[in-house]
Amino acid sequence: MAVLEIRQFPDKILRKKAEPVTTITESERDLIRDMFEAMYLSSGVGLAAPQVGVSKQIIVCNPTGQRSDELAIINPHVRYRKGKKVKDCEGCLSIPEISAEVVRFLKISVTGKDPSGKDFELEAEGLLARIIAHECDHLEGVLFIDRIGFFKRKALVNKYKKKTGITCIGKWY
Ligand code: NI
Repeated sequence: MAVLEIRQFPDKILRKKAEPVTTITESERDLIRDMFEAMYLSSGVGLAAPQVGVSKQIIVCNPTGQRSDELAIINPHVRYRKGKKVKDCEGCLSIPEISAEVVRFLKISVTGKDPSGKDFELEAEGLLARIIAHECDHLEGVLFIDRIGFFKRKALVNKYKKKTGITCIGKWY
């Protein structure tokens, strides 16, 4: 098992659209296992493959941290978002030290393949819906800081620079 390094903003891979997975093999399943471990090590609840340097459409989620609640989706496709819009605090393992309130739909329906290659559809609500939406955003190169207002984002990025010492953000927005 490999310990995967989590890429940090402004790493360019976080802004790339991830490629669909064409065949699911043992190497994708190994990657998924390693992604869960990397996520647990950082006390996260979700992770997308680009965050570990792999530009493929794979996400893992676990809202509770219990193994029975592990959810891995290959080639996730958001079918619809519905319900009321809810605001909640969100962070990202690739943008440590900062968090912000992000508005998202209460419910999401997603289709995709599980690690065995089986197609499935899932309707999620609340925290799980939020995690899936956040991770699917990663596959499009979208980060949670893109979903807040310009001035809030600017303030947050300044805080991120101060806390992490990362200064070379460039003209990312
Ligand atoms: Ni994230």
